[in-house]
Amino acid sequence: MCGIFGYYNYRVPHSRQEILDCLLTGLRRLEYRGYDSAGVCLDLEPVPPATPDGAAANGSGGPANGSSADGAAHGPPGAPATPPPLVIKASGKIAELERKAYEELREREVDLTSVFHVHVGIAHTRWATHGPPTATNAHPQVSSPAHEFVVVHNGIITNFKALKGFLAGKGFHFVSDTDTEVIPKLCQFLYASSPTKVPLSELVMDVMGQLEGAYALLLKSTHYPREVVACKRGSPLILGLRSAPTPGSAGGAAAALARAVSGEVGAGPPAKRPAAEGFECFFASDASAVVEHTKKVIVLEDSDVVHLQGGAYTLFNAAERNAELAAAGAAGAAAGGAGRVPPVAVSRALQTLEMEVSQIMKGGYDHYMQKEIHEQPESIFQTMRGRVSRMGAGADAAAGGERCIKLGGLAEHVEAMRSGRRIMFVACGTSYHATLAARQTVEDLVSIPVACELASDLLDRRCPIFRDDTCVFVSQSGETADTLAALEYAKARGALCVGITNTVGSAIARSTHCGVHINAGCEIGVASTKAYTSQIAVITMMALALSEDSISKRDKRNAIIDGLAELPEKIRQALKLDLEMRRLAGTLEGEQSLLVFGRGYNYATALEAALKVKEVALMHSEGILAGEMKHGPLALVDDTMPILAIATKDSMHPKMLSVIQQLLARGANLLVVCNEGDDDLEELCGSPDKRCSLIRVPQVVDCLQPIVNIVPLQLLSYHLTCLRGHNVDQPRNLAKAVTVN
Ligand code: F6R
Repeated sequence: MCGIFGYYNYRVPHSRQEILDCLLTGLRRLEYRGYDSAGVCLDLEPVPPATPDGAAANGSGGPANGSSADGAAHGPPGAPATPPPLVIKASGKIAELERKAYEELREREVDLTSVFHVHVGIAHTRWATHGPPTATNAHPQVSSPAHEFVVVHNGIITNFKALKGFLAGKGFHFVSDTDTEVIPKLCQFLYASSPTKVPLSELVMDVMGQLEGAYALLLKSTHYPREVVACKRGSPLILGLRSAPTPGSAGGAAAALARAVSGEVGAGPPAKRPAAEGFECFFASDASAVVEHTKKVIVLEDSDVVHLQGGAYTLFNAAERNAELAAAGAAGAAAGGAGRVPPVAVSRALQTLEMEVSQIMKGGYDHYMQKEIHEQPESIFQTMRGRVSRMGAGADAAAGGERCIKLGGLAEHVEAMRSGRRIMFVACGTSYHATLAARQTVEDLVSIPVACELASDLLDRRCPIFRDDTCVFVSQSGETADTLAALEYAKARGALCVGITNTVGSAIARSTHCGVHINAGCEIGVASTKAYTSQIAVITMMALALSEDSISKRDKRNAIIDGLAELPEKIRQALKLDLEMRRLAGTLEGEQSLLVFGRGYNYATALEAALKVKEVALMHSEGILAGEMKHGPLALVDDTMPILAIATKDSMHPKMLSVIQQLLARGANLLVVCNEGDDDLEELCGSPDKRCSLIRVPQVVDCLQPIVNIVPLQLLSYHLTCLRGHNVDQPRNLAKAVTVN
């Protein structure tokens, strides 16, 4: 959806140019989350180097828990202590923002070499939801022309109309169409209404009390110079921590970082940092923007509020604070200034990112999508690593004996899933297709009813869900709003909720009772590729784990486990079709439409191939269940309509041969995915009078064949997109994680 990025440096001197570059790089890493407009906010005035006790660098002279150094409350709200920060916004990509930022800085004769010892920079890349992607609607959004409160926001404020009406009644003038603009204006309103100056974190918690919807936001203010507050509810936000050794610092980086996460992590007052130590923090919507700076992160939880000030930070939780206020009967005091109950700091675990910087680079490929397609032998291996027995060097998969699947995340729930009434998969888009691709395997092995539901449709229908259902939520990002809403819906009905995601610490991973990570590695291309194949593998492994006790399924299970072990190599072979797929893409380049037929295991392959073609190559394409061909779609078939059919060897093969015969009889221009050495198809399609090209893929056990079959079709859509001149990694109007419904 949108991406937010923030950078705070304390006693780690950086020039304005370096800070701007850091913000722009952060945005570039997040650009896949939204790419129709962007903006940054930088301070205008450098601060003099800090005195040893930190007073000057701190700005307001107080530690991060908001009270001043001597413990007294801040004085009354007054005039801003600093000049308005620079806010630069542009419609279009980050490159356009960069161009505009440097142009504006040059025109205003702003010195790029000015050094900041303490600075807070915030930035945003947008996927428009409210209002067109103009510079005015881009973030940061501000409270006033003097930029007193400046906010970047990911998510949606659902009650923004009511808030806007209220604030307009108080004389606030709105300039954008966004829901976000109410946030800085509400801050300003509450700030001005307060008889005494409350700490910025408390002001933000008061604002959060008025906001409905989902959000992650960063906020800075001229009234609170060199401070920043971040908070989240329903949208992801992580805090990356890095300390930097400075000359003469005792204990160096490791000690400084340990103190930075003291308390341990804010369980009491924040650490008082020795003045000589430098400290840097990064806020980002996801880890891909942080990993090149630090691997030490805190994944913020809902209602968390982080206050950064004076080289330390404190974590609060707005929900806990409200409960404390209620318990203390002090809710009334929250509206005023005097007599407020100071919030109690909370602690969060410091985590180490497992991601490598190389994962967020293109690594010699032209596009992320291309890289991610080619990564699949490795990503599928990582998905299975440590989970499929008899894998790895020296494994003799062909020899007899027991194979087994270990899914630690499900271990305690296997019995409940086996004895449940049904398994319901819930997902959107490509993830939904993965559930369709693996559905039959679950039905075959587990022998209980299986349903696949699109999350939005499940919610629209208010589909009945029962306590003895197992609902499995499949999502690459773990953030998709509809999937998340369906998860809350299923949880409220008492179902066992299982998550299958690619994102450790994501909302879906945290909200489900148990789950499995697909471990496919960071997926940046907006079109999902490697996550799809790994999702099918994980659902298949789940079916294998659930059927472990079944003697009658033993042979089938062993064949599938052997098939899993072969997958990396089979995918590697399928990737050799790259050049051939480029050639075939050339034959489709000028077409208007592509129909894709499949059935059985490969109905999902047809849907997924069609989705890839439509979303990145921007060509109309439709995946069709081949069994439905005569019930309507056949009317579209003539010698002008290109058709792709998936006819690899499984129990549907004879039926697909018959479909292909009928299509050829109508003069169709056919591409057929088949197995190497398929004599029937070679004979049927091989003669030069037939307009038919065979895409020969290696054979694997039938239920895993969709994993191999999709590979050349991903390549086809990739090359088609390049040939048609469209943006591969950032298709028009789309974003990687759809965090609004
Ligand atoms: C298509 C695509 C989308 C996503 C869908 C769900 O290539 O990527 O259809 O699959 O938006 O996203 P996740 O899996 O993150 O829930």
